[in-house]
Amino acid sequence: MDAPQAETAQPRLLDHPAAHSLLAVGIVQPRLEEAVDFYSAFGLSAREEHGALALRAATSTAPAATLREGPKRRVGHLTFGAYEEDIPRFKTHIAAMGLKLADPPKGVEPEPGSIWVMDPDGMAIQIAPSIKTNPDARRQSQFADPDGWRHCPDRAATRAAPQRLGHTFLFSSDIERTNRFYQNVLGLGLSDGNQYVSFLHGKFGSDHHIVGFGQSHAHGFHHLSFEVANIDQIGVGGQHMASLGHTGWGFGRHVAGSNWFWYIRDPWGGWIEYFCDIDYIPAGTQVPLRELAPEDSVYLWGPPMSEDFIVNPEPA
Ligand SMILES: [Fe+2]
Repeated sequence: MDAPQAETAQPRLLDHPAAHSLLAVGIVQPRLEEAVDFYSAFGLSAREEHGALALRAATSTAPAATLREGPKRRVGHLTFGAYEEDIPRFKTHIAAMGLKLADPPKGVEPEPGSIWVMDPDGMAIQIAPSIKTNPDARRQSQFADPDGWRHCPDRAATRAAPQRLGHTFLFSSDIERTNRFYQNVLGLGLSDGNQYVSFLHGKFGSDHHIVGFGQSHAHGFHHLSFEVANIDQIGVGGQHMASLGHTGWGFGRHVAGSNWFWYIRDPWGGWIEYFCDIDYIPAGTQVPLRELAPEDSVYLWGPPMSEDFIVNPEPA
């Protein structure tokens, strides 16, 4: 797969190297043939590339996720994008932090010019030179006919079209250690959190979170999340998946990030989310860290949360 090409304009650098975007999630799992049907129904394109199943959203040229066949579902790696000028600074910084650069996981084709490091739970992190895919402004709902007096979308033309990967949410075996790594090594900012959950953003202008973590007994995968244009897209997407027998949890509103959501249970014990209207953190903004009340860790309103929503499928 090819990462977006590095842009030529001089990006603004911080006093430390910092990732600006989450580019892709590498997942290992069984039954890839089943994945084509599931992720296509969700609205992603799914096709085989370099021995993996590459998932793309509507506006992404590079895959948002790559799925490799393996006996058991697990997150293989995360790919973060950084400005090209930050890659050598990352090398120096990682060494200064007492960490070593890592090799790419077996079978994974690294992005040209990328470097790899392991996170505290032993998950491979790729830092690749790339244009920024994290937005530069708040994205509000875009309706086809905002002023029309019959603006309910046409049924025949309505299917959810995920536009881009927004974030992933993972379980961590030690959320404080994980938060320190993603802040101090990758240069992300902590947006909201408590002892149970944390949400981190890029510092060059970012969604409220591009990666989040939940405290658990072990590292594990929880969900991928894709932005859609508006609430109707969330609704028709969730309804379409339900019509195919895929249970979910939604429609609702998160507290951390404020986004509207609908999650679909995937056939491997994880989830995938449609979202829109997520909070935006402009570049240079020092967001006061909000200690989330436990009851605000997940949502403000929606249907009762399904009991299996926050379950780490990894064995204890
Ligand atoms: Fe999410």
